[in-house]
Amino acid sequence: MYQNIFDTHAHYDDERFDGDREALLDALPAKGVVAVVNAASDMKTSASGLALARAYDYFYCAAGVHPHEAGSFAPGDLDAIAGYARDPKVVAVGEIGLDYHYDFSPRDVQQQVFEAQLGLANDLGMPVIIHDREAHADTLALLRKYRPKGILHCFSGSAEMAGEILKLGMYLAFGGAVTFKNAKKPAEAAAAVPLDRLLVETDCPYMTPEPFRGRRCDSSLIPHTAERLAAIKGISAQELLDITCQNARSVYQLD
Ligand code: NI
Repeated sequence: MYQNIFDTHAHYDDERFDGDREALLDALPAKGVVAVVNAASDMKTSASGLALARAYDYFYCAAGVHPHEAGSFAPGDLDAIAGYARDPKVVAVGEIGLDYHYDFSPRDVQQQVFEAQLGLANDLGMPVIIHDREAHADTLALLRKYRPKGILHCFSGSAEMAGEILKLGMYLAFGGAVTFKNAKKPAEAAAAVPLDRLLVETDCPYMTPEPFRGRRCDSSLIPHTAERLAAIKGISAQELLDITCQNARSVYQLD
């Protein structure tokens, strides 16, 4: 059995876990999962993530507003995120960023809300969890402007973009997408990331790795992602899990 599975990005507040959340979260430590960070999408999931983090020793969370929800960002939300950040179980501001694939919020609003939260994270000395979908140039420009600590989650860019993120001192997290057939680009990007900047994640309930693609994802499926990344890196999957666990502790300041 694998050990030291650190899921750096999950959404256990999602309604797809409503039927069995408690049983599932109770069972994860026995499957080698040592830590989970739940990413928030808005004020509601910032609160529900923190409630879960308080209920389980191994569980942590982030607080923040996702670009999809940027349109409903309210003036008091920044203070609310800062309030959450005082809790020792809240380890990051996120997920925040830009999503030009869905464009659920106008792009200028996404950018304003992203910038506000980047500034807040820097003020608080906290890492950020970045969501970037088809917005690589604008995301990179804002990361260069604010130079936050943190993670590019579910990395979907090129090896070249990975190089630019690495130059900023950030970490890159890979999930189930790296296991998909025809996943040439994520594999090339993962190959370009040194082991000391690599993280694993689920983004569950989404992004289930092969051979379970299509089913609901949870943190116990990370070994499938780790095996693929380990093959790219030429090490064992357990070594990859050990290294990425240490990296996650470092970026989330858990040591
Ligand atoms: Ni996510």
